[in-house]
Amino acid sequence: MSALMSDSISEISRRRTFAIISHPDAGKTTLTERLLRTGGAIQLAGNVRAKREQRKTRSDWMAIERDRGISVVTSVMTFEHAGCVFNLLDTPGHEDFSEDTYRTLTAVDAAVMVIDAAKGIEARTRKLFEICRLRDIPILTFINKMDRESQDPFALLDEVSSSLALDTAPVTWPVGRAAEFVGTYDLRKREYHLTAELAQSDPRFAQLDEEIELVRAALPEFDVASFMEGHLTPVYFGSAIKEIGVADLLNGLAEYGPRPRAQPADTRVVEATEEGLTALVFKIQANMDPNHRDRIAFARVCSGRLARGMRLKQVRTGKLIPLHAPQFFFARDRALAEEAFAGDVVGIPNHGTLRIGDTLSENEDLNFVGVPYFAPEILRRVRLDDAMKAKKLRQALQELAEEGVVQLFRPMDGSPAIVGVVGTLQLDVLQARLGAEYGVKIGYEAPPFQLARWISGEKAVLEKFLAEQRSSMAEDVDGDPVYLASSAFMMRRTADLNPDLTFRDIKDFR
Ligand code: G4P
Repeated sequence: MSALMSDSISEISRRRTFAIISHPDAGKTTLTERLLRTGGAIQLAGNVRAKREQRKTRSDWMAIERDRGISVVTSVMTFEHAGCVFNLLDTPGHEDFSEDTYRTLTAVDAAVMVIDAAKGIEARTRKLFEICRLRDIPILTFINKMDRESQDPFALLDEVSSSLALDTAPVTWPVGRAAEFVGTYDLRKREYHLTAELAQSDPRFAQLDEEIELVRAALPEFDVASFMEGHLTPVYFGSAIKEIGVADLLNGLAEYGPRPRAQPADTRVVEATEEGLTALVFKIQANMDPNHRDRIAFARVCSGRLARGMRLKQVRTGKLIPLHAPQFFFARDRALAEEAFAGDVVGIPNHGTLRIGDTLSENEDLNFVGVPYFAPEILRRVRLDDAMKAKKLRQALQELAEEGVVQLFRPMDGSPAIVGVVGTLQLDVLQARLGAEYGVKIGYEAPPFQLARWISGEKAVLEKFLAEQRSSMAEDVDGDPVYLASSAFMMRRTADLNPDLTFRDIKDFR
């Protein structure tokens, strides 16, 4: 494997590709806005919050997006700061929480976990954290809203470590609390970062000196190696809204944030600095632009340098995909990409050729592992009103499931299809697209199942189980067997009664 020229290697090593994970309302949008502003992308900053309004006029490609005023699009925001190129991948969060949120986390090298200083760890944060941990993604923690009444910083650190089983090391310490929160003290550099007005008056913080001594004595120092391995999270205190602590976080990412990581493939591990270009498709977006009713495949460049006009092999089919118009995605505008490096995300327009999990490669046949399916949290039975359209529905569901809109489970007893999602918006998107693109009207019904688990085991054992449990069995989009359980209790019981079978809530694409 030959390595790239040194100027390309330095381009790669200055990439920082990350996402923000949080529970709704912890402050992700505000922090994103402030990071973009700190990073100098001022023209973008105001637009993050204005997204709602803007989308109404800009992209009415899907009525549902317009009606709800929310984004169904995972955008990528790129900006430069402290010599680094940051790619911030937006993870859909509120009503638009979906499997795309999970998949996006498979395309980043680091995650920033935003925690509300009053509320601590909340449910969604925990779930997203678990997905990051599965992939050993290093996590930085930003404890937000320190300008309000909050929990004690020691208690917050304790909560993070005990409830997530993750060591914590504060990198900064809050100066003042609530209304008196005026800045941070950098424990590594031993310097104050105060709001502009205060910095000029050169204040003294006697009480803080004692507290900092206590912090140093009681808490571990930040250790980069342990962070990289995913065992320890550096913690920053701040207030996104008051723009306190935001630069600390960004500078930390620049200084020790992970460079584009090596990616595991079926035949070997691919280093980011290898010469041959490889990329992994982690998300498909249909009909983003009403004037171009095509699909955009979002691909993370895993190694090498991408140049416009290149032809890449879709390893699954052997087809050559010409990159006439790869695009970088900004919060607002698309720009044509002339070149991109490992760590960057590009959008590749296509007509449905590319699928989630596809590997694109310049010369070597290999397949990346790692865009998994996660067991859906919501199951619905599809109700078709016009029986004449059954065949059409079957084909449409297969295509939309392959694209990743929903997961599809076809019951083995021949009863109507069941779809699975992690966010209810996915159900609305499916319904809207079936109507608009296939002319099929559907409704939903609650099925007698709550959980879906992929099963595997020895052939004979599996076949016996399938025969016995036929009314609880389904096939997924690839024809793999899935057990549907009516409750968590039934799931445990079935697993206990069948110790020779494995029931999994995650399925790798390959
Ligand atoms: P999200 O994307 O994670 O859902 O959170 P978002 O940034 O939208 O923030 C949720 C609410 O918390 C917003 O208030 C926002 O202004 C507020 N907020 C964010 N960061 C801070 C902070 O550091 N300190 C304080 N005190 N508040 C913060 P809202 O009233 O729901 O919305 P808005 O009326 O401000 O738009």
